[in-house]
Amino acid sequence: MKLAKRIENLAPYLFAEIDKKIAEKKASALDVISLGIGDPVEPTPQHIIEKLCQEAQFPPNHQYPSYYGLKELREAIRDWCYHRFQLNLDPDREILPLIGSKEGIAHIFLALIDPGDLALIPDPGYPVYQSGNLFAGGVSHFMPLLKENDFLPNLNAISSRIAERAKLIFINYPNNPTSATATLDFFKEVVKFAKKFDLVVCHDNAYSEITFDGYKAPSFLQVPGAMDVGIEFHSLSKTYNMTGWRIGFAVGNAKVIEALGRVKTNIDSGIFNPIQYAGIAALKGPQESIKAMCCIYQKRRDKVIETLKKIGIEVKKPKATFYIWVPVPRGHSSTSFTEFLLEKAGVVVSPGIAYGSAGEGYVRISLTVNDEKLNLALKRIERAFKGVREKSG
Ligand SMILES: Cc1ncc(COP(=O)(O)O)c(C=O)c1O
Repeated sequence: MKLAKRIENLAPYLFAEIDKKIAEKKASALDVISLGIGDPVEPTPQHIIEKLCQEAQFPPNHQYPSYYGLKELREAIRDWCYHRFQLNLDPDREILPLIGSKEGIAHIFLALIDPGDLALIPDPGYPVYQSGNLFAGGVSHFMPLLKENDFLPNLNAISSRIAERAKLIFINYPNNPTSATATLDFFKEVVKFAKKFDLVVCHDNAYSEITFDGYKAPSFLQVPGAMDVGIEFHSLSKTYNMTGWRIGFAVGNAKVIEALGRVKTNIDSGIFNPIQYAGIAALKGPQESIKAMCCIYQKRRDKVIETLKKIGIEVKKPKATFYIWVPVPRGHSSTSFTEFLLEKAGVVVSPGIAYGSAGEGYVRISLTVNDEKLNLALKRIERAFKGVREKSG
C-alpha cells in the first residue's frame, strides 16, 4: 500500500502529538496539567445551547442544510460585522458560513493555489496555513515574525522576485501563537503590498473578541481597498466558547468568497441547521459573556506573567488572545524547555518550534484551563525552578 506523497510530507497535527504525550504521562500516573491547546473549558452561554436543543426537535432541520448557510445566519453575520467593524457586507456575495474557521482556512488554498504556486505564510503560525497550502500543492514562503518587528512580517524584506511569484499572503492578528496585535496602519501596508504584487490577502481574525485592557482589535476589511484584495476568517469558537460546535465564517471579496464556496459545495454539505440557528442566537443575543470571559483571561494572563517574572522570565502583557508567548530560559531550546516542564512540573506547554522555525526559543502557554488548575500549574512551575536553582547552587 502506498500513501500519497502529500501525506508523506505532512507532519502529524501538533496537538494530536501533544495529546499522545499527555496520554503517556497519564499512564505513568503523573497528574498532568495541559496549558498546551487553546480550548476554553467554560461552557457555551445557556441561550445558545437552548436554541440548539429547540431547533434539534424540528425534523426539517435534520435534513441536509443549504450549501451556503441559512440566509438568516448570513444576515446575522452581516449585522454583527456592521456593529463590530462598521463593514457593509452583502450577505449573498460577501459572506460564507464555515464548519469552523479551520475548515475554510484549509480549503481556501484549493480555491487560490495551483501546484507549484507560492503562498506567503507567517512563521510561527497556525499550522493549518502550511498544511492547507501543502494539500493544494503550493509552495510556502515563510515570513518570520520576530520580536524586533513586534511579531509582524517585514514586507520590505520579501524580495520582488518572491512577491511577484506569490498568489496569496496569510496574516493573523491578534496572533496565534505570539499574541501580537496589528494596527490599521499595518493592514494598510498589507493592502498596498497586495495591490502592488496582485496577491490575495487572507486575514485570520479568530481572536478578534479576546482582548484586554480596553483594546479592541480591528478588522483587516476596515482598511480602504481591502475588499478589493482579501477576505477575513472569523470564528465563533473562541468568542462564545463554541470550539466543539464547529461554526465560523469568511467575509470579504466576492470573487474569493464565491471560489471558496464552490470548493466547499464539492466537499461538504454545510453546517447542521440547529447549529446555524444557535450561531444566530450567539451573534444576535446578549454579548456580556464575551466581556466576562475576557475578564477571566486577563486575570489569568496577569497571574502567569507574575509567576514568570518570579522565575526570571520577563514577558510584556499581551493585549489579546488567550496565549502567552514565553521566551525560554538561557540554555534551553523550545523542545527541551517543554520537556523540562513536563518532566519536572507535570505541565504541558506548546513548543514554539512546532509553529515554525522562527518559533524556536519560545513556548506557548494557553490560559484556557480553569483557575484552580492554572494556579496549581504555576505553583509546580515555580517549584521546578526552585529545584533547579537549589541544585545549581
Ligand atoms: C489562529 C487560529 N485560526 C483559526 C483557528 C480555528 O478555529 P475554529 O476552526 O475553531 O473556528 C484557530 C484555532 O485554534 C486559531 O488559533
